[in-house]
Amino acid sequence: MNSKAHLTGGLTAGAVFDRLAASYDRDFTDSLIGRAQRGCVWKILLKTFKPGDNLLEVNCGTGEDAFFLANHGISVFACDASQQMIARAEQRLALKSPTPPSVFYHLPTERIDELNPTQRFDGVFSNFSGLNCIENLSPVAQALARLVKPGDRLLLCFSTRYCLLEIIYYLLHNQPGKAFRRCKGFSHAILEDQTLSVFYPRIRHIRQSFAPYFRLRSRVGVGVAIPPSYLEPFVRRHPNLFRILCRIERVVSLLPILRTTGDHVLLCFERVPQ
Ligand SMILES: C[S@@+](CC[C@H](N)C(=O)[O-])C[C@H]1O[C@@H](n2cnc3c(N)ncnc32)[C@H](O)[C@@H]1O
Repeated sequence: MNSKAHLTGGLTAGAVFDRLAASYDRDFTDSLIGRAQRGCVWKILLKTFKPGDNLLEVNCGTGEDAFFLANHGISVFACDASQQMIARAEQRLALKSPTPPSVFYHLPTERIDELNPTQRFDGVFSNFSGLNCIENLSPVAQALARLVKPGDRLLLCFSTRYCLLEIIYYLLHNQPGKAFRRCKGFSHAILEDQTLSVFYPRIRHIRQSFAPYFRLRSRVGVGVAIPPSYLEPFVRRHPNLFRILCRIERVVSLLPILRTTGDHVLLCFERVPQ
C-alpha cells in the first residue's frame, strides 16, 4: 500500500471516530465491560513501564489511559487520527491537570514518522484496536523503531481474529455472518452511517511486520471470559455472572491458545539492537 493510501486510511478513520467522540466515554470507557477489559490492560501497563518513563501513545482516544499513566508518574505524548477524540481528551486534561502533564496531538499513526522528538521515548502504547484500522503495519513498525531505544517496549492491544465468545453468541442467535465476521481478516464496520475498514491480522503476521526491529516477548488475552462490549446490557442484567467471568479472565487470559481467542490480545514487543 502506498503512503497516499495510508494517509487516506488515517483520515477516514479519524472522520469516523469524530462522530463517536462525544459518546465514546459513556458507551465504552465507563461501561462495566470497558472498565473490566481496561483494568486487565492497566495491570500489564504498570508491570511494563515505570514512573519517570515518557511514552508515546498512538490512537489514544479520549485519553483515559494517558490520565491513568500520569497518575502513576508516567508522562505520555498521545496521538489520535480523530480531531474530536483529541478535543475531548484536551477538555478532560483541563479538568484534571495531571502531573506529569499529558500532551494530546492530532496525528494519524500512518504519519507517526513526522514526529521528531528531542529525546527518544521509553516505550510505545496502543490500546483497544486503533492499530486494527491500519492495513499495512510494516511502515508503522519502522517509524516506531526510530522513536525508541534498544530494550524499550511496545505494548499493543489488537482486536483478535478469532473471538470465541463472539462466535458462540452470534451462532446461538442464528447470525453466522456476524459470528465469523473477523475470521476472513477484515470487515467493514458501519459506525454512525460511515464505513470503517477494520483488519484482523494473525499474530504471526503482526510479529512479522514488527520483526526487523522488534521481538515479540509476550501475549496476554484481554476479554477472553469478559465478553465484547456489545454484551453490556447482558452483563448488567447478570452482575454475579459478570463477577465470576472477571475472575475466570485472570486465569484464561494467560493460557496458551485460549489467550488468543478473546476480544483483544495484548502483545509486548521489545526493540532489538540493529
Ligand atoms: C476503539 S478506540 C480506542 C481509543 C483508546 N485507545 C482507548 O483505549 O479508549 C480506537 C481509536 O483509534 C483511533 N484511530 C483509528 N485509526 C487510527 C489511525 N489510523 N491513526 C490514529 N488513530 C486512529 C480512533 O480515532 C479511536 O480514537
